[in-house]
Amino acid sequence: MIYGAILAGGMGQRMTQAVVPKQFLEIEGEAIIWIAIKKMLSVERFDKLIIAMHPEWSDYLEKMLAIKLGKKYSRIVVIDGGSTRLQSIENILSTIEKDGFHDDDVVILHDAVRPFVTKKLLENSIDATLKHQAVGVAAPVVDTMFWVENGTIQSMPDRDHLFHGQTPEGFHVQTLKKALEQLTPQERDTITGTVQICMVKGIPIHIISGDNENFKITSDSDFAMAQAYIKAGLDETR
Ligand code: CTP
Repeated sequence: MIYGAILAGGMGQRMTQAVVPKQFLEIEGEAIIWIAIKKMLSVERFDKLIIAMHPEWSDYLEKMLAIKLGKKYSRIVVIDGGSTRLQSIENILSTIEKDGFHDDDVVILHDAVRPFVTKKLLENSIDATLKHQAVGVAAPVVDTMFWVENGTIQSMPDRDHLFHGQTPEGFHVQTLKKALEQLTPQERDTITGTVQICMVKGIPIHIISGDNENFKITSDSDFAMAQAYIKAGLDETR
């Protein structure tokens, strides 16, 4: 099975002006998470789409899906997210486990707050994950980068070797499960991204190219950028 999964268990606390979790903020009448869901649904190879949602907002999401999709909603399962991103991922794996694990199952995890992922990038992630155990997305860094210590530039790392890590992140389900089980409490406390789970366990991570439009909406200024992007007609679902 090829599982798609959307991470939506957070509350968006760094977005100070939002009155709802940031994934539900609307741009031109569409919630950010709905734009991300549409992208995932456009990929027919996803056998199932699991959405890990903050428990207080599950009903809200279910209502939105019923309005948007009516009965065409059978590919989607909404589950409770965890109190950390890592726990949301564990809840996704537990849901997959209920289907019975198969050796060739893969899961493609995507942040709800990266609505500008393209269908092509999702397809590329699936293709690469079918060949590799773990796959990350790297987008080129465009600014000049400084390595700073004690308030002084120590060096200017070569940009050719620096990338922004993004989602979607793809994994063989069994590989990710084993890596998660082996994390020490200390590793659990420091890990932020999903590929890191595999990296600390020595699993090679294959990289595919991302693009800077696939940015994560973290702060109010990112939201303003997302609004401008949609208004300019640059999103592929518009
Ligand atoms: N996420 C999740 N479960 C959590 C925390 C985060 O599934 N317990 C998801 C978020 O919903 C988001 C993605 O992981 O789609 C990226 O995380 P981030 O941008 O940090 O989102 P929030 O945790 O919502 O933001 P903040 O840290 O500002 O509260």
